[in-house]
Amino acid sequence: MNIEFRLAVPADAPHIFAIKQAVWPSESPKGQAYIAEVIALPDHATHLAFVDDTPAGFVDGFMTYTPEGLPRWEVDLLAVHSDFRGKSIAAQLVALSTETGQASGANFARGLVEIENIASQRTFARCGYTLENEHHALMVGSELLIDILILPPENTLLTPVQTINYRGIWVEGEYQKNSFLAGQVLCTRHAWDLTGAVIPTNDTTALKIAQELEFTLVGHYQWWKRSLV
Ligand SMILES: CC(C)(COP(=O)(O)OP(=O)(O)OC[C@H]1O[C@@H](n2cnc3c(N)ncnc32)[C@H](O)[C@@H]1OP(=O)(O)O)[C@@H](O)C(=O)NCCC(=O)NCCS
Repeated sequence: MNIEFRLAVPADAPHIFAIKQAVWPSESPKGQAYIAEVIALPDHATHLAFVDDTPAGFVDGFMTYTPEGLPRWEVDLLAVHSDFRGKSIAAQLVALSTETGQASGANFARGLVEIENIASQRTFARCGYTLENEHHALMVGSELLIDILILPPENTLLTPVQTINYRGIWVEGEYQKNSFLAGQVLCTRHAWDLTGAVIPTNDTTALKIAQELEFTLVGHYQWWKRSLV
């Protein structure tokens, strides 16, 4: 069995689309043209794995900035087709993505992993990432039917992101009502897909505000991080 890895190019969008369909059959996926657009973004690096020339898995990574302005590599979407699991493909994909993040100047890399996802946790652990103990709730809001100017609080960071799964805004830092609303207004104005926030589960005030704004809980997650400096 021959396993090969390489950076994806936009023409690989059908491979990534097919792996996504196989791994998450119930999700309504973004189309191949959208995926090709994401692969081409200059701050992204998508790595693909092939087993005997058959597309087997991928990981997408991209750069964002912390509220303090530090470059940070997001190991965002990782998937290996079930026919090819248990061969360290995920670990090699994450290792390659991490190397790209380091070469691109990121201070650290991180991945958000669901609390029950043991295979993904082991992958990040094997790649030198360490677990942050704090549990988080991933909350997602949709479009707002109002279009008024809402400025976020000074210590809220709104980051526009374009991932393989969606286009939207991440809300970070201080969570006030206007933090979420400002994200949703931006998202609605651009007709993007969602506004997301990864909120510590002990921040009950922030969670309550998000719930009142009809953000829905996607699941419980922890950050895995690795320093790159
Ligand atoms: C997570 C995923 C990418 C791992 O792919 P993979 O190529 O099989 O991973 P690896 O072969 O590198 O192995 C991962 C580790 O998890 C372990 N593992 C796999 N399934 C496991 C399970 N059900 N329970 C416990 N450990 C498990 C493997 O033994 C291996 O451990 P090791 O590194 O200590 O040997 C793959 O399972 C997948 O696509 N899952 C669905 C999508 C998903 O969850 N993506 C990640 C979102 S963050």
